[in-house]
Amino acid sequence: MSAWKHYNPVPIIHGPGKLNELPAHCSEGRILLVTSAGFTRRGVTERVQKLLGSERVSVVDQCTPNPDLDDVDELTIRCRTHQPAHIVALGGGSVLDTAKALSVTIPHEVERPLQASFRDQQASPWMSHIPVIAIPTTSGTGAEVTPFATIWGGKEKKKYSLAHDRLFSHCAILDPELTVTLPEDETIYTACDAISHAVESLWNKHRTPLSVCWASASLAHSLRALPEVLKTPADVRARANLQIGSVLAGLAISQTRTALAHSMSYPLTLHYDVPHGLACSYTLPAIARWLMHRDQVGLNDCAEFMPQVEAVLKRVQVGRRICAYATEEQILALVPEMRTVGRSDNFGYSVDDADLEALVQDALADKADG
Ligand SMILES: [Fe+2]
Repeated sequence: MSAWKHYNPVPIIHGPGKLNELPAHCSEGRILLVTSAGFTRRGVTERVQKLLGSERVSVVDQCTPNPDLDDVDELTIRCRTHQPAHIVALGGGSVLDTAKALSVTIPHEVERPLQASFRDQQASPWMSHIPVIAIPTTSGTGAEVTPFATIWGGKEKKKYSLAHDRLFSHCAILDPELTVTLPEDETIYTACDAISHAVESLWNKHRTPLSVCWASASLAHSLRALPEVLKTPADVRARANLQIGSVLAGLAISQTRTALAHSMSYPLTLHYDVPHGLACSYTLPAIARWLMHRDQVGLNDCAEFMPQVEAVLKRVQVGRRICAYATEEQILALVPEMRTVGRSDNFGYSVDDADLEALVQDALADKADG
């Protein structure tokens, strides 16, 4: 029997219309609203500004997919003049990651904290932070309840991870009404990310009794809700279940982190802009088969879910979708970059390049079915 501990301090508020409770969580001081241009175009940014009192709010709406290290350092310098007491993050995973990074870089004494921390390898104790109210508008990231933020080094084609307890949100507001207009492709990719989080938490060497409960409940929600949402996109109840699946997976990986499928995904996103949820889910059935042939015990916690996971991934055609971004040869050429510390080694079973090649080939063989 192994020892374990659990810590997640994020209050979660869930339900239709709960966005209206936002002012109660940032009643004083200036507010930095971090979002993307789409929300400004659709009038959501203005709605949030009015809710909070427009004179208190500064808006940053240039967040783009996969936040770039240099862009976030530039934003940090610009946003310091606002002196925000709170940051409101409204958007998908990239918006949440950008906001969480800003929450520790804005108060930092170094001018370009991410450059210093990741490229110059200077120790960066994140000594203080600005509280973040996270309002996810996709169901997949889980970033609203994790102490991590992913930052991408576009110049050097490298993925970095900020990880610190100060990156836990002050609170998470999950309003399923904000997710009903999410287009089909984004709904699929983000749900695939949540499914991948849950599976990767279940076969993770850091899994605990609690993370197993959360990840199992997550899969039960996501695998049922995704087909319902694809059939009836405006169904708020189904959207709410997909959102619950996502936050439960987020809680699970907040304890375990992710594992091999995520590690194998990062070079695809860095080199070929493959959407994160697609890149980290297409290998799941192949990894499960690999595991089954070596150690059935390692698969036990997720074995019951894998047939349904595989069926859902086939239904949304992850294999066909991957091949629209890169050829098998191009993906196989990335094998040397597919192992990352803190991800591939969470899997609990060492893999070499030959294993990774076999996994990619097996995963892409599924495309015929997809
Ligand atoms: Fe992910």
